[in-house]
Amino acid sequence: MKYITPEIAEQYFNDALNSKLIKSSKATIFYVKEILEDRLAYLQRDFPKNTLHAIAIKTNNHPEVLKHIVSLGYGLEAASLEEVELAKAAGAANFRIVFDSPVKTQEEIDFIVKEYPGMYVNANCLEELKRYPEYHELALGLRINPLVENDANGIFDVSNSTSKFGVPISREQEIIDACIEHKISTLHFHIGSGIKDFSANVRAAKKVIALAHKIDEVRKKKSLRERITTIDIGGGIQFDQEVTSQSTKAFVAALFQIDHLENYQLITEFGSFVHKHASFMISRVEYVIDNGDDIPNIAYLHVGADLFLRKVYANLDINYPYTVLGKNNSSSATKKYTIVGPLCFSGDVLYEGIELPELKSGDQFVMLDIGANTFSMWSGHCSRKKAHFILI
Ligand SMILES: Cc1ncc(COP(=O)(O)O)c(C=O)c1O
Repeated sequence: MKYITPEIAEQYFNDALNSKLIKSSKATIFYVKEILEDRLAYLQRDFPKNTLHAIAIKTNNHPEVLKHIVSLGYGLEAASLEEVELAKAAGAANFRIVFDSPVKTQEEIDFIVKEYPGMYVNANCLEELKRYPEYHELALGLRINPLVENDANGIFDVSNSTSKFGVPISREQEIIDACIEHKISTLHFHIGSGIKDFSANVRAAKKVIALAHKIDEVRKKKSLRERITTIDIGGGIQFDQEVTSQSTKAFVAALFQIDHLENYQLITEFGSFVHKHASFMISRVEYVIDNGDDIPNIAYLHVGADLFLRKVYANLDINYPYTVLGKNNSSSATKKYTIVGPLCFSGDVLYEGIELPELKSGDQFVMLDIGANTFSMWSGHCSRKKAHFILI
């Protein structure tokens, strides 16, 4: 299975009802392992076999989902020490965890040096490097900002000159000096999220690999033994919507046009690509307010801006497909509805003025393709409990 259709969602919902898996009559998030496995299989198939695919925890941090990823032999990318501990709880070995927090404290660094030997740790800036002891058993990397233009939406483009992530590649001499001083074995980059044209990632890889080559030339001249062995290419690519066999394959083929790439072990950090289509949410419609013919009616759900932060607050063009259970093929007359969440503020709106078959209290509203940056971003506003989560 590649996508969850309204019919499949309905089947899962009915099966869960029949087997009494649904714990709340309000809202339930379903996560379908088969779709995650399908996307992971593309990575496994198209990248070299020794690539470490460290799936970004921040994109979906449900402990059972993480456990499943680890049980299939994949790694996890952690954006905070808390996520490192989630990775460990999911069963990930240190050498399958990549720790990328941009603001690691001295205490955190001392802790991981002691507790996580073998873990990949990418320093975000040259200042951070000074906090590592001379002797440690971490696989230390440095995040480079390759300064490549890309098509990520403004707030997700982290490869511009004002980015807080990584050392700008234009500071080449300082990077080389840092690699002389520290045992850096990985160069890391992640240029942004939601990227449609992966040629930007290929250009970034080319610049970073040329830099790795230069660093090691200088190291050789100085008779230093350390080498850059690993290139961590991050995530961020929105492979085409059809997830054709071309997408990941074409990317890997383009990467391997780069001179010397075959000399490095690769790490990837995909998030949205593997999670987005694997999850859907079903909420009971609690109330329907009839506003007459001129103003859309209002339907209230049990999740809103608490689960869909980016959609509600960030003014991004995020349109989760939706349907109403049992009314997908309904030929009855439609009405206009504004779909709102349960939070106590007026901006908690999920869809405005959409046409739907007539709704009534107790109907089940479904939102599809919600697996990325939703559950893991749950907002505590109004102190509502997280929606019940079912892994199937
Ligand atoms: C360092 C890093 N790696 C990986 C990811 C995952 O990105 P995506 O979900 O777009 O693949 C992110 C997302 O922000 C990130 O910051």
